[in-house]
Amino acid sequence: MFRTDENFALEMDSKDKLKKFKERFYIQKDTIYMDGNSLGMMSKDAEEALMRLVNEWKTLGINGWMGGKIPWFYYAEELSKKMSSLMGASPEEVIIHGSTTINLHIGLSTFYRPKENKYKILMDELNFPSDIYAVESQIKAKGLKPDDVLVLVKSRDGKTLEEEDIIEMMTDEVAVALLPGVLYRSGQLIDMERITKAAHEKGIYVIFDLSHSAGAIKHELSKWNVDFAFWCGYKYLSNGPGGSASFFINKKHFEKETGLAGWFGYRKDKQFDMDLEFKQAKNAGGFQIGTPHIFSMAPLEGTLNIFEEAGIDNMREKSLKATDYMMYLIDSKLAKFGFNIGTPREHSRRGGHVALEHDEAIRINEAMKERGIIPDFRYPNVIRLAPIALYISFHDIWKMVEIIEDIMINKEYEKFSKERSTVA
Ligand SMILES: Cc1ncc(COP(=O)(O)O)c(C=O)c1O
Repeated sequence: MFRTDENFALEMDSKDKLKKFKERFYIQKDTIYMDGNSLGMMSKDAEEALMRLVNEWKTLGINGWMGGKIPWFYYAEELSKKMSSLMGASPEEVIIHGSTTINLHIGLSTFYRPKENKYKILMDELNFPSDIYAVESQIKAKGLKPDDVLVLVKSRDGKTLEEEDIIEMMTDEVAVALLPGVLYRSGQLIDMERITKAAHEKGIYVIFDLSHSAGAIKHELSKWNVDFAFWCGYKYLSNGPGGSASFFINKKHFEKETGLAGWFGYRKDKQFDMDLEFKQAKNAGGFQIGTPHIFSMAPLEGTLNIFEEAGIDNMREKSLKATDYMMYLIDSKLAKFGFNIGTPREHSRRGGHVALEHDEAIRINEAMKERGIIPDFRYPNVIRLAPIALYISFHDIWKMVEIIEDIMINKEYEKFSKERSTVA
């Protein structure tokens, strides 16, 4: 169904119903930005929202808390309405807050209450390391030993996880399972509904790290009955470097006492009573800690508007077509140079990026950068490529593969060091 010629890419672009969104982003001339799964591009909408907030600070000072166009005091709750609909949740179940890792701590400290016969935490050996560090620190804070508590599901191929292997490890002793929605390296999409159902049958709480699926795939967090989930804003959601993250807590848990309290979790109407007794809000907001990072969530105001206009179903449809096309071109034109694809081929198991593997990935990645492609390297051998539906065209993908082919034919990568750089 695909072809390798340039005209085919142009034909695909002419039929792309999302193509008009590219001009809403600051795409730099002569660059092909394939790293939106690591840091999403800035949109004009995001810039406008951020600059409005900067101006409000300039002109209103502290009065911005109640006098901003969207009062800052309610800003997180207001933006969270659109975020919740993107994630298949009700507005009171989602809040934009803190950072990814902070939100993990909130979720785990709330849901992990170890008992004598139910004290284990189930994760996987391909998990993002920060999640493991965070979980180990929580285990130690409870006076327990990570070696006794943490069980890691093994990968059969070093790249992906089998849902049946995860489920098999859900023994009666497991209290919480903390798993990725999409694996950060291979881009495998996990069947979150199946995992949640199986966990609940064993009385296990499920927490998902959705950093690599939020904004890339459609979620139905309420319907899937997930207990808690958290995700970052700076990848597919284009919230800017270090921008605020978000979390979801199922409404059936609103009565739970937060494990990490702070005054922004107080009932909003009474927060400024300054009562010493903590009265927790009965919604996701009740699990916030401190003052919201207004500037760090402002870009989301712009991006979420774009997402609403574009529609996550349309974005997912294009993303799958784009990753299919990229894989087809890699198979047709690059496999002969020793490249391999580490991402599952089935749509139901694929997130938004393609993991291109090569023994010389470090140097090829550098050569790609020199030729105007912005890829994303993960040690030791993976180049992650994300054709973001809103701003990557089929012609960009075609062009990128042409450039990589050229790099390989001319061995352009040989002049680069085999050492990886500090941020990679
Ligand atoms: C899957 C995953 N989890 C957690 C994190 C940590 O996020 P943060 O540094 O925003 O806390 C990242 C960061 O890239 C990530 O990719």
